[in-house]
Amino acid sequence: MPEPGPLRLGVNIDHVATIRNARGGEHPDPARAAALVRAAGGEGITFHLREDRRHIRDDDLVRIREAAGGLPLNFEMAATDEMISIAERFAPDAACLVPERREERTTEGGLDAAGGHDRLVGPVDRLREAGARVSLFIEPAHEQIAAAKSLGAPVVELHTGRYGELFLSGDDAACQSELQRLREAAAYASGLGLEAHAGHGLSFDNVAPVAAIREVVELNIGHFLIGEAVFTGLEAAIARMRELMDEARA
Ligand code: PXP
Repeated sequence: MPEPGPLRLGVNIDHVATIRNARGGEHPDPARAAALVRAAGGEGITFHLREDRRHIRDDDLVRIREAAGGLPLNFEMAATDEMISIAERFAPDAACLVPERREERTTEGGLDAAGGHDRLVGPVDRLREAGARVSLFIEPAHEQIAAAKSLGAPVVELHTGRYGELFLSGDDAACQSELQRLREAAAYASGLGLEAHAGHGLSFDNVAPVAAIREVVELNIGHFLIGEAVFTGLEAAIARMRELMDEARA
């Protein structure tokens, strides 16, 4: 079997803005975090402009771009006309469509690409025409991956939230079976010519088995890294995550 290729780390900086917004004002600034991600060797900046603007705000976007100094920007968004229009103007390198419900605390579950084809086809086309590499944040299920392919999205981001929860639950058998589902999904996506990414709920403790999946080429990690940064600083947290990913990959 060939050696697995490189694995990129995209850092989701939303929760720097969550802390800022808890008080209002400008501190801590997610744009400053974007500059630190670059300094620490992160390979991409991910941010989610939510409908309710609970963390990233519209006025953050340009400052994040300036601070990122050329690192690829991955714009997560719901497939609404408002968000697609903002993305068309902003022209990010990558755009990731996610499901969004106002009452959820974070993105719970993947996008229903299989059941939502007619609703998603327009947004995927518009984002592609805006020059973004489109990914769909989906559950690691064959029908969702096949639907992403038929929608013309070149990338799928496999939702690792369930794996993360099972990891914490102590139910090892269920956790291993979810991991196997992720492995099979990544292989299936790759076989269809799609690029496989993964993310949600990843931490120092649970990242290794996901990083070891050879078809996965990018991880997007946010909440844990920003939380860890409170104790060690963002650069150290990213450097440690990078180390764990590289070890798992080797
Ligand atoms: N990928 C996607 C598509 C997401 O929506 C999120 C959460 O915003 C993440 C990755 C990162 O998840 P976490 O913050 O749990 O690391």
